[in-house]
Amino acid sequence: MAPHFALRACHVLLMVLSVTASEDFDWTKTDKGSFYYGTFPTGFSWGAGSSAYQTEGAWDRDGKGMSIWDAFAHKKGKIFFNDTGDSSCEGYYKAKDDIVLMKDLKLNHYRFSISWPRILPNGVKSLHINEKGIQYYDDLIDHLLENKITPIVTLYHWDLPQVLEDKYGGWQNISMVSYFNDFANLCFERFGNRVKYWITFNNPWAAAVEGYETGEHAPGLKLRGTGSYKAAHNMIKAHAKVWHTYDTQWRSKQKGLVGISLLADWGEPVDTTNQKDIEAAERYVQFSLGWFATPLFNGDYPQVMKDYIGRKSAQQGLGTSRLPMFTSQEKSYIRGTCDFLGIGHFTTRYVTQKNFPSNRGSSFFTDRDLAELVDPRWPDPGSEWLYSVPWGFRRLLNFVKTQYGNPMIYVTENGVSEKMMCTDLCDDWRMQYFREYINEMLKAIKDGVDVKGYTAWSLLDKFEWDEGFSERFGLYYVDFGSKDKPRYPKASVQYYKRIISSNGFPNQREVESWKRKASETCSSSNQLLAADPLTSHMEMVTEIVVPTVCTLCILLSAIFLMFLLRRRI
Ligand SMILES: *[C@@H]1O[C@H](CO)[C@@H](O)[C@H](O)[C@H]1NC(C)=O
Ligand SMILES: *[C@@H]1O[C@H](CO)[C@@H](O)[C@H](O)[C@H]1NC(C)=O
Repeated sequence: MAPHFALRACHVLLMVLSVTASEDFDWTKTDKGSFYYGTFPTGFSWGAGSSAYQTEGAWDRDGKGMSIWDAFAHKKGKIFFNDTGDSSCEGYYKAKDDIVLMKDLKLNHYRFSISWPRILPNGVKSLHINEKGIQYYDDLIDHLLENKITPIVTLYHWDLPQVLEDKYGGWQNISMVSYFNDFANLCFERFGNRVKYWITFNNPWAAAVEGYETGEHAPGLKLRGTGSYKAAHNMIKAHAKVWHTYDTQWRSKQKGLVGISLLADWGEPVDTTNQKDIEAAERYVQFSLGWFATPLFNGDYPQVMKDYIGRKSAQQGLGTSRLPMFTSQEKSYIRGTCDFLGIGHFTTRYVTQKNFPSNRGSSFFTDRDLAELVDPRWPDPGSEWLYSVPWGFRRLLNFVKTQYGNPMIYVTENGVSEKMMCTDLCDDWRMQYFREYINEMLKAIKDGVDVKGYTAWSLLDKFEWDEGFSERFGLYYVDFGSKDKPRYPKASVQYYKRIISSNGFPNQREVESWKRKASETCSSSNQLLAADPLTSHMEMVTEIVVPTVCTLCILLSAIFLMFLLRRRI
């Protein structure tokens, strides 16, 4: 009995030791517990976000050059309803108004992006710097700081200067690395005295896969099985170069941080007792988040990507893998180039193993050998792909902690859209989404994940890429049909504001009253919105009908005058 017991105790001890030594993510533990009342650590940063092409408009004003999104959206048949971001929210002209909205929300930070071609119309620093573009961002940053709102600035939110696409094939070409570095360096030089949080790339996964693989996004290339890997390879190198530029030239003076914002939807094994499902779910996450995070934290692509793409390439008779390789020099240059990790998270999928024969052509999606599933009971309030699965958020954040050594995290995007023609400002589903997702994030912090801030996506309704204006993510409703693009608060503005002012969820009684209180405000705003089409109609009357009435008056008086004169004769 005794030796057996000792052996057991020893075994347990060994297990405990190995768990603490290399903390592995536990795929079998599904904790979908109840609502957690509590608050966030002091200093937790609350924000909202946007991006240049989605909100600025003014696509050809004040010397701005064309981006790949301007060119793409101008082609018919690419965007839902042939919409474009030409004017969008007119954010370029309404920065001060929007800061009033942020101040009302009591935001700690605002995340926006700098349009590369607004500052460098030809993409290249040595050719021409557009000072008017610089001025716009200077003013925006100054106004934010005057209102005690910290700017978090993205350098690349998908709007590559079109000339670089035409001349070099965009991110296919290694020369983007130095052009992007020049642009970033200029931003550090001009704005870095005031901006302390830099994000190199926003969701490079989508920029690579949808831009160069499926062609649903600009530049619309369909280079299946190769395009996204090449583009991503150059983006990772560009990120590392920009981080090193900041580290060697600016960090000691400016004392800021340089990170990246990665898309990270969660993949849950369909059956957590099935090893094949667990492996498929992990592949799902490695082929999105891991594709970019693993090089930045560990120096190379995830082993599973190298294995799968390499094996399929060999089966296809290719001499080398379709996934490019980093040299050992590049690996050590790229490793450790992430001061904080930005996480963009919206939804979750169930994942199971599914083999795709390699002789039927190649693609990023079939390289993964998996199938994605959804539970029909999951709420699906808005965009087709966006199911509300709050517990997936906590799982993801814990995965990030164990995989990358507990990095500093900023949630850079999280939110939900609504169905296309919906003009209801009483957005119950968005309040519910924020409540539950933010609560899961709070649980993750209790688990020991180092989340420093949260960015609601997004401040305003805006141009949603290939979906045009048909999907609305905003806390504020934007009336795109009106010339002035007025903003109206949805109920979720009040709700988010209460989460911010309480720094979390203080107690059940209070939290339960929030939704009711927020809904009280939105019915009156709804009437405002309902009245709006009338106002825009009245504008039309003033512009077109009133001149006509004037013309008529003049004509009538002329006839009357002639009549009088004739009577005299
Ligand atoms: C978009 O443009 C294409 C080509 O001109 C046209 O066929 C299509 O009907 C347009 N769609 C809408 C919704 O206007
Ligand atoms: C990169 O651009 C240069 C200059 O246009 C061109 O010669 C080269 O072939 C391009 N490389 C790739 C991989 O497209």
